Order: sequence, then structure tokens, then C-alpha cells
Amino acid sequence: MNANDNIIESLHARVSIRAFTDEPITAEEERTILEAACQAPTAGNQQLYTIIVVRGEDKRKALVESCDHQPFIARAPLVLVFCADVRR
Ligand SMILES: Cc1cc2nc3c(=O)[nH]c(=O)nc-3n(C[C@H](O)[C@H](O)[C@H](O)COP(=O)(O)O)c2cc1C
Repeated sequence: MNANDNIIESLHARVSIRAFTDEPITAEEERTILEAACQAPTAGNQQLYTIIVVRGEDKRKALVESCDHQPFIARAPLVLVFCADVRR
């Protein structure tokens, strides 16, 4: 099995998760996730986006409402907002 087989397998196995345990995300795991996100290809490699790590509970609750009232957002151990940012 080569690296591409693993990617195909991972794509078939993945699902959206909207329920979370109380286990926190470590700083190292957060960094790993953010670095992986930054590997995504972008047009002309311009990387015209900003990733915002939303930390405060009040901000997370505001997101619940501004994102079509989806309460699971406030229960996620790590909340990332991806913004198109053409000024970068
Ligand atoms: C652009 C985009 C926006 C999405 N927005 C939401 C969302 O607001 N809330 C949500 O619960 N899931 C959202 N999803 C997840 C989809 O509902 C989910 O991927 C789809 O139902 C298939 O389920 P799966 O991811 O488990 O295969 C979004 C997915 C995409 C690609």
C-alpha cells in the first residue's frame, strides 16, 4: 500500500462529527491541524485566506447564532473560522 492508497482510504472513511468528548485538543494537536490546513492548495499559491482560532465562549456562542443556530459549534474543543481574505 502506498501513500495515495492511504489518502483514498481516508477519504472513504471520513464523516462529519458534531458530538464531542470533553478531551481537550493539545497545543501540539492544534498546531498539527493548522499546519495541515495550510497545506491545502490555493489558486496561484496566493493563500488568500485567514484562519481564525475562536477561543472565547462568548464568541463561540455568537458563532452558533450567526451560523444558522448550530449549537454543536459551541461544544467543539477547537473552533476554526476560515475567511477568504483578498487583501493578503
Ligand atoms: C461547504 C460546506 C458547508 C457545510 N456546512 C455545514 C454546516 O453549516 N453545518 C453542518 O453541520 N455541516 C455542514 N457541512 C457538512 C455537510 O453537511 C456534510 O459534509 C454532508 O452532510 C455529508 O456528510 P459527511 O461529511 O458525514 O460525509 C458542510 C459541508 C460543506 C462542504
